[in-house]
Amino acid sequence: MKVVISLGGSILPPEDVTFIQNVSSLLKKASKDMTLYIVTGGGKFARIYINAARYFTHSEKKLDRIGILATKMNALLLATALDFSYQIPSTIDKAVKATTSIVMGGTIPGQSTDAVGATLALRLNADRFIIATDVNGVYTDDPKIYPEAKKYDSIHINELIKLCNKKWHAGLNVIIDKKACKIIKKGNIKTRVLNGKDLKSLENALYDQKFDGTIIEV
Ligand code: UTP
Repeated sequence: MKVVISLGGSILPPEDVTFIQNVSSLLKKASKDMTLYIVTGGGKFARIYINAARYFTHSEKKLDRIGILATKMNALLLATALDFSYQIPSTIDKAVKATTSIVMGGTIPGQSTDAVGATLALRLNADRFIIATDVNGVYTDDPKIYPEAKKYDSIHINELIKLCNKKWHAGLNVIIDKKACKIIKKGNIKTRVLNGKDLKSLENALYDQKFDGTIIEV
């Protein structure tokens, strides 16, 4: 069983080691029952560095490269907590060759780690792709800005593509980036979106049980 998880950087706050320990315990346990391909996001540090560098360049590619480094820092942090290999794959080609569970960060500019996860899931023909972010699913609008936004229990991928149709820039904050959505559609990838801070929900999704979040219909 192969499960790909895109773990948003917000799920790995370096100032909250207790949470990192708790999420690691769950992932470590699950890695005994399935092969996990965990892709970590860059979180707030990616944005702080991207925003600082934005004063000095208009090159989104350069800014993306800063973001990618932040994702790799988080990958190494999680690999340390999990006691997984420190050989963080830098490309999808290297990641698909892994025979044990792995952690990795971003790969190329112009996308988010959700796109890395979706590409991995497509190439591996993975059983499931879990997007663990800091909201408990896909909403009609960003619920942090619009409290009246409604959560989808399930949403068709074509609808999601319309919802996430934002032009790319480094540090873009959308629930799932457009590129990832298109790969999910192309690969008919079984995808679930949930709040990674809700460890029960994450565990349920890992084991293909009923969970609190959103099912992406493909
Ligand atoms: P993410 O946007 O994936 O991190 O990467 P995140 O915000 O922690 O993830 P979510 O949104 O919670 O799931 C941070 C930045 O790193 C660059 C982009 O600039 C992105 O905004 N990046 C990441 C790339 O350019 N390529 C990659 O493959 C991954």
